[in-house]
This record gives sequence, C-alpha cells and structure tokens, in this order.
Amino acid sequence: MRILVLNGSPKRDRSDTMVVTRAFLEGMNEAAPQDVKVIDVIDKHVEYCTGCFSCMFGAGGCVIEDDMRGILEDILSSDLLLLSFPLYCYGMPAPLKAVIDRVLPLSSMEMQKSGERYEHVGRNDLSGLRYMMICGCGFPNSKHNFEAVVMQFRLLFHGSGIALTMPECPMFNAKAAEPVTGPRLELVRRAGAQFASGGAIDEALMAEICSPMIPEEVYASIVNSGVK
Ligand SMILES: Cc1cc2nc3c(=O)[nH]c(=O)nc-3n(C[C@H](O)[C@H](O)[C@H](O)COP(=O)(O)O)c2cc1C
Repeated sequence: MRILVLNGSPKRDRSDTMVVTRAFLEGMNEAAPQDVKVIDVIDKHVEYCTGCFSCMFGAGGCVIEDDMRGILEDILSSDLLLLSFPLYCYGMPAPLKAVIDRVLPLSSMEMQKSGERYEHVGRNDLSGLRYMMICGCGFPNSKHNFEAVVMQFRLLFHGSGIALTMPECPMFNAKAAEPVTGPRLELVRRAGAQFASGGAIDEALMAEICSPMIPEEVYASIVNSGVK
C-alpha cells in the first residue's frame, strides 16, 4: 500500500504523535510491506488559500505555484492518506490546516447531495483512497477535547476513515513512562497489523488505544509537579 503521512507537528521527528504513528506503520509493515512517504508539513512552502475559487471552475488548477502541487500529486498517487498531528486549540495545527484548505483543486464547484448534506463533486477518482488521522494531545481527558477535530475529519472525508486519538501524548517521549507507553504502543502496532490485513480495526482495541494510559488525576499531578 502507498501511504502518504502528512506530519502536522512542527516538532518533525520529535513529535509525540509521530511515536504513535510510527508504531502504527510498524504494525502495518509486519502484516505486509508498505511504501511509506512522510512529509513534514512545517518544512513545505504552502501559501494560504486566497479563496479565489479559480481551481473549482473550468479546467481547474491552483493559481499559486508552491509545494502544494507536489503534495496534491502525492495524495493522488496514494492508497492511504494519514494525517498525523498534535491537537492545537481543539483543532489541527495551522500549517496542516493550510494544506487541507489547498486540496480544493481536487473538487469542482458543482455540488451534489450526499445523505443529509451537500458536497462538491470530485475531479478525480479517489474511490481507492483511504483516510486516517492520528492525533495526540497534552491533556489527559479524551472527552471534551478531540470532538471538533474528529468531526472536521469526518466531514472532510465523507464520514469514512479511521480516527485514532491519544491523550497524555507527551508521555511517549518520556523515558520514565516506558513501562506504560511500551504496552500501549504494542496495541497500536496490533491495530496497524489489523488494518493492513483486513482494512479495519477492532472497535474494542481502538477504544483501549484511545483511552488514558494512567489515571487522569495522576497524569495531571505529574505534569503539575514539574511546573513550579
Ligand atoms: C498551540 C498549542 C495548542 C494546544 N492545544 C491543546 C488542546 O487543545 N488540547 C490538548 O489536550 N493539548 C493541547 N496542546 C498540547 C499538545 O497537543 C501536546 O503537547 C502534544 O503532545 C504535542 O504533540 P507533538 O509532539 O506531536 O507535536 C497544545 C499545544 C500547543 C503548542
């Protein structure tokens, strides 16, 4: 499978979330060899969409010449688009959002009804493309935190796709936390293997992965003890 990872963390390789993403990809690779390309979005020159809509009329195409052309080509030649990013203010980091806004050239202005809503008609056959997001965050609570970004992901990608959300994510780069992060990464690897071999992940396994690794109040007190 050709996998395009858009790493939305400005921390690049040092991203807490990418520790989880790498474990997922390892699991996929164990099931079958994968062709993975990782783009650190922070290093790309991607201008903000100006909202001119030139791309959505006629032959289309964006009027801005920057790295987004290559990213669109990469998306079109992938089987899985994996967005890996930290939760920033209950959403995705701005550089990744800039990329997502700039995928507009993949659609035309024509609108069609899809279930209870309307969406633009695509210019390309993306029926073979799967979508996934892996989002890590710094608070221990998984409720009242990820809802907005998961809803955005679902609306963007037609309700399909897998959303893996991980609270207490800074623990993945803390050596002292390895006794708890190690087993959690093992579960993530198992999910990756399941996805690669069957195209889906067991619901109970996903629920376990997305739950806090240590009790919320313990995590909060550890963080607080290092603040003062
Ligand atoms: C600007 C900014 C906004 C953040 N907003 C949230 C938030 O809304 N909820 C949360 O739980 N953590 C929030 N965090 C914490 C990060 O999600 C957390 O540190 C995460 O582990 C960073 O992941 P990364 O290393 O992959 O970039 C925020 C961090 C920053 C810098």
